[in-house]
This record gives sequence, structure tokens and C-alpha cells, in this order.
Amino acid sequence: MTRRLARPVGITATGQHYPERVYTNDDLAQFMDTNDEWIRTRTGISQRRWVEPGQGASDLAAPALQMALDRRGMKADELDAIIIATVTPDTFFPSTACRVQEKLGATKAYGFDLSAACSGFLYALTTGAALVASGTHQKVAVVGVDIMSSIINKEDRTTAVLFGDGAGAVILEAVPEGGILDFEHFIDGSGGCHLFMPAGGSARPASAETVAAKEHFVVQHGQDVFKKAVREMAEISRLMLDRNQVSPDDLKLFVPHQANLRIMDAAAKRLELAEGRMMVNINEFANTTAATIPTALHQAQEQGRLGKGDTVVLSAFGAGFTWGAVLLKWSC
Ligand SMILES: CC(C)(COP(=O)(O)OP(=O)(O)OC[C@H]1O[C@@H](n2cnc3c(N)ncnc32)[C@H](O)[C@@H]1OP(=O)(O)O)[C@@H](O)C(=O)NCCC(=O)NCCS
Repeated sequence: MTRRLARPVGITATGQHYPERVYTNDDLAQFMDTNDEWIRTRTGISQRRWVEPGQGASDLAAPALQMALDRRGMKADELDAIIIATVTPDTFFPSTACRVQEKLGATKAYGFDLSAACSGFLYALTTGAALVASGTHQKVAVVGVDIMSSIINKEDRTTAVLFGDGAGAVILEAVPEGGILDFEHFIDGSGGCHLFMPAGGSARPASAETVAAKEHFVVQHGQDVFKKAVREMAEISRLMLDRNQVSPDDLKLFVPHQANLRIMDAAAKRLELAEGRMMVNINEFANTTAATIPTALHQAQEQGRLGKGDTVVLSAFGAGFTWGAVLLKWSC
């Protein structure tokens, strides 16, 4: 059974923002035991951007959303709601949505943060679309942002090389036709032990002991995550095509979460995707968690790889485990 919205809702504008500072694989090799060849061949990553100390998620999210608003010719005070997908909010509270609302002067909007790690943008996208489809909201902003450099242990080569910082934003509005055609989301909490941050939440609050034990950083069992990600991203992407009778030839662009080029290639193979139809930005920006898909969409549009009416599949997998996919017809 497909999940159809009550009326067509589409992405009518996109924006993005990255920190300025680029760290190449060779830069990382200066302070950890790694090398460019290992990182490129195992992950597809050549470089990433990391913020300067003191920059928070809202410092990237606000300019990304402002770019999307400018492209749409919309003022911030026209927005009804702002949903921010992130696992690295400026603070636990107030939410990053509150900070972005204030920075942009989105005086009529309310908003909230949504936590689903690398699947966060897709969960937020369909949540925002449902608000618009219900008719209770007209203009909803969805931002995926993460400052992964704030939660990676830069002495742990198995995780530190994988992640970058960034923000991508979209505007959702009712459209005459097309837009989001179908979606599916899953969680499997039994996978929580494979990708998590041990301390800092209510179960294990920050203390001198947790800091000394480096428990405020990402812990990952790479191969367990890899195996599950390969299987689920491939399956759910294929599900979007099959249950909507879309043939791989009709798919203009596949935009997967950018965690590892090998995971993405496996999903593309399962889709029987023609050459050049997968959007890739992991080489330049690494895994920016909630920001990978909205930034990839923005860049695809910029590069002329997306046009109005094109059929697109988005798919993601992340900590939780969480995963999901969206089938849409491009609306801007
Ligand atoms: C993390 C990941 C890239 C590791 O790749 P892998 O092929 O599984 O590599 P392994 O963990 O088996 O490590 C192989 C070797 O490389 C070494 N290694 C790990 N990181 C390294 C690095 N940055 N540089 C050099 N060597 C490294 C390991 O120590 C190991 O050495 P050993 O054989 O002497 O013990 C891969 O497991 C992965 O991408 N997992 C999923 C990550 C993901 O998607 N996370 C986000 C979910 S949204």
C-alpha cells in the first residue's frame, strides 16, 4: 500500500550552507594514523568541512534556509513552521528551530527539532509534507543540519574520517500535481548498540567521569552498520519503485544518504540504475548526517541534473537503526 498525501505537496526551493574550512584526507593524516588511499577506497571520501570552534547547528541552518527562501522569493515571516532534523543541536534546549526562527525573523512560525540521525531529513520531510497536505499549514521549512565535528573523537580513525559538517534546507508547499508521491520509514531499536553516543543524555548525564572516558563521542561498530545499511537502503529504494510501478529507466535521479560510496553503489545496483543517475557528494563533503540529502538535492538542481517533473528517489539509513525512502516528482 502506498502512503499518499491528502493533496500534492512538493519541494519548491532548496538552499545549503557549509563551513569554510576544508580538511583533506592528507590533513587528517597529519594528526591520526590514516591515509588518503584507505579513506578514498573504503568510503569514497576525499575531504570534508568542519566548523571553527563556537559555531553551532543554527549557524549553518539559518543561512541554508535563508538561501532557500531567497530562491523562492519568500520572506521568513511567511513561514508557518520550521522543522530541523539534527543530532547535534546547538543545545538540548532551546531547540535549534527556536534559534533559527529568531535568526531569520520567522515571526509567524513555530517549530521543533527532530532526532533520527542520518534518516532525520527524510522523517522531517514527510512530517512537514503531512502538515501542508492536511491544509493546516501552507509554507513549511525543513532543514537537515549536523555539526558532526562536535561529536567525533578525532583520535579515533575508524569514525573521525567519515563525517563532515553542513546544512541543507527545503521549502514545502502545496503544488498542482506531482510532489511527494509515496514514502516509507522504519526503525529497529535493536540496532541502537551499533551506533550511538554513550553519555550526555538523561540515562548517563555528563560528569567528569564520562568526559574522561570519552563517552560524548560517536561509537560505531562499522561492519554491523555497513551490512544492515547495504541491505535496507537497497530494499527500501527498490520498494519505492516496485509498489508505484516506476521502472528504473523512468528514474531521473537517485539521491541516497551519503554514508559510504560502497553502500550507495549497492543500493544503485539493486535499483538497476543507469550510469550517472545517482547523486554523489560524499567525495567532497563526507557524511554530514541529516544534511546529506538536502544538500545533494540543492547541488543536483544547481548542476542542472533535476528539472520540474523529474522522478526522484531519496533514501537514507542511520543510527537507531532508522531508515526510509521517498518517491517524488521534482517541483522547482
Ligand atoms: C567504517 C567503515 C568505512 C570501515 O570499513 P571496513 O572495510 O569495514 O574496515 P574495517 O573496520 O574492517 O577495518 C579494516 C582495517 O582498516 C583499519 N582502519 C580503520 N579505519 C582506518 C582509517 N581511517 N585509516 C586506515 N586504516 C583504518 C582497521 O583498523 C582495520 O585494520 P586491521 O585489519 O589491521 O584490524 C565501514 O565499516 C562503514 O562504512 N560502515 C558503515 C558506516 C556508516 O555508514 N555509518 C553511518 C551510518 S549512517
